Amino acid sequence: MKRFWCLVLAVLAGGGAFARVPTQAPGEEVPFVPTPQNVVVAMLELAEVRPGDFLIDLGSGDGRIVITAAQRFGAEGLGIDNSPALVREARAAATRAGVADRATFVVKDIFDADLSQATVLALYLLPEYNLALRPRILDELRPGARVVSHDWDMGDWEPDERITMPAPEKTLGGTQTSTIYLWRVPARVQGPWRARLGAGGELELALEQKFQRVTGTVRYRNAQCPIEAATLSGDRLAIRACEGSNRLQLTGKAYQDRIVGTVARGGAPPTQFRALRPSDDALPELSR
Ligand SMILES: C[S@@+](CC[C@H](N)C(=O)[O-])C[C@H]1O[C@@H](n2cnc3c(N)ncnc32)[C@H](O)[C@@H]1O
Repeated sequence: MKRFWCLVLAVLAGGGAFARVPTQAPGEEVPFVPTPQNVVVAMLELAEVRPGDFLIDLGSGDGRIVITAAQRFGAEGLGIDNSPALVREARAAATRAGVADRATFVVKDIFDADLSQATVLALYLLPEYNLALRPRILDELRPGARVVSHDWDMGDWEPDERITMPAPEKTLGGTQTSTIYLWRVPARVQGPWRARLGAGGELELALEQKFQRVTGTVRYRNAQCPIEAATLSGDRLAIRACEGSNRLQLTGKAYQDRIVGTVARGGAPPTQFRALRPSDDALPELSR
């Protein structure tokens, strides 16, 4: 079985990011294939790993991603692998590297792992594993957490960034290149929101969300306008809508139950706003 999976991975790795994704049920074995060290460093750089981060590598193999995150980037990390032999190897490597206190490893199935503490999640699995993990990533990781995946995407969840780079140490496949994908877990902003804008009346947002893509409408001074442009990066939301004196430029931080930020109307200087879900009883007073 292991040889079969090596063959599948070899064929897929040869096609890199453009390979057709086979339909295979997760739960089958993913073999240990190490990420080349130059790609490990590039993954951690793309995810902007730094001291204070807690990185989880799902399927940590010999531990190189977690150990490099601790040793070179000052982060703390946890590697999870279902192979006791690989976990032993990773622990020994962490000790040799002098980071055993910040790079720990457990024998566990990745689908039983608690992901909620991760500020960075590293993956080098298979496409269907990424897809199977996707709902949990979106539900359990906090907004703004970064997910970095070697060679495999997340289906229709477009990456925020993607790079392809030489990987001369790669032993599998016909091409010695690797693709790295980065996503920032988006806050949930879907639905209606209302904010009071002091003397300027009320602002209503009706937001549609597909991962980090936000569309919808803004209602302000009895004018309803489609959102012209919106970006959602983790919990940072920016919206541009309406025209002329009704022109709105809104930037804010999205929490589960509120969006807090500033709104600039027409040519006027920005004022603070706090939007709530309309089900909340009272609209907040404007803080100035
Ligand atoms: C392709 S290797 C990646 C190793 C490492 N993350 C790296 O990039 O160098 C995948 C690893 O996932 C582990 N693995 C596969 N399925 C797993 C599962 N269900 N639970 C835990 N680990 C798993 C394998 O033992 C293997 O070490």
